[in-house]
Amino acid sequence: MKAIQWHDTHITILNQQALPHKTEYLELKHIEDVWDAIVTLKVRGAPAIGMTAAYGLALAAQSYETDDLATFHTELKRDRDYLASSRPTAVNLFWALDRLTKSVANATSVNEAKTTLIHEAICMQIEDEDVCRRIGEHALSLFQDGDRIMTICNAGAIATARYGTALAPFHLAKEKGITLHAYACETRPVLQGARLTAWELSEAGVDVTLITDNMAAQTMKAKHISAVIVGADRIAANGDTANKIGTFGLAILAKAFNIPFYVAAPLSTIDLQTKTGDDIPIEERAKEEVTHIGGVRIAPDVNVYNPAFDVTPHELITGIITEKGIIFGDYETKLPTLFEEVLA
Ligand code: MRU
Repeated sequence: MKAIQWHDTHITILNQQALPHKTEYLELKHIEDVWDAIVTLKVRGAPAIGMTAAYGLALAAQSYETDDLATFHTELKRDRDYLASSRPTAVNLFWALDRLTKSVANATSVNEAKTTLIHEAICMQIEDEDVCRRIGEHALSLFQDGDRIMTICNAGAIATARYGTALAPFHLAKEKGITLHAYACETRPVLQGARLTAWELSEAGVDVTLITDNMAAQTMKAKHISAVIVGADRIAANGDTANKIGTFGLAILAKAFNIPFYVAAPLSTIDLQTKTGDDIPIEERAKEEVTHIGGVRIAPDVNVYNPAFDVTPHELITGIITEKGIIFGDYETKLPTLFEEVLA
């Protein structure tokens, strides 16, 4: 079963909050369920958030009772804005909602628009699988058999339609009989590395070693890490990249050890409207994510700062791997060229 699946009356998602203890699928029947699933990280990871929101918008639109196109567009805009309010950092959310909204701009009837929304959302999921496979192929060209590669968070199959972005080379290497060793940072406070990446890669038969986040420097040194590869939530026009909290620290360490640091992401994560990393909104989440682990309090009730993401400056990024190929440096000039064919 896929991590996200459209059905005519609902969407099913793999509950990423229940992993690795339980493989549980949830039925999202209303737009509020979709919003809640995104906010509470039952579905997470930039492409997965975008796809789920797209399906959520298509689902909501099916229940509009009007035959009037202007009313339909007003209701669609209201629901688009509601879903867009779920999380601020991953640009894929806004990209997906806007792509869906645009797909019905020229619809000639409400019925046609309703069908088009479903079709467009399904197309996005089909495309994402192909995009991730291409990212994986490009990423794999950077690695050698036996490499030891560090990652953080989960930019894997469950965060996309299939394969993942930063985890795509591990899945493809496995398919091709190449051995890559993954070193997964646990990713405090929500533990996407420990709960999700360790689970996803071990289920796929990939050799994965789990470390806590504060072991990264020692691991790079002692285990001769060959490269770091991470996903992204938003890449600004100059290449500055927002990704899971802890990514920036890994990039600094990689620089200190002279290890290449790669970002793997689809074009839908590149936001040319956002000039630099300083313009990327960084989500701050509830203090309980830090003061508690698995519902158990581990800290007194003190002030907590809990940014869910950080921004890695472009100077620390060796290369950005997309479905269109790999860019090495000079991102400001080269990122727009990736879109030329798409825009033409
Ligand atoms: O808060 P999350 O778990 O949604 O954060 C996810 C990440 O930071 C991922 O690395 C990113 O979205 C890429 S997923 C292919």
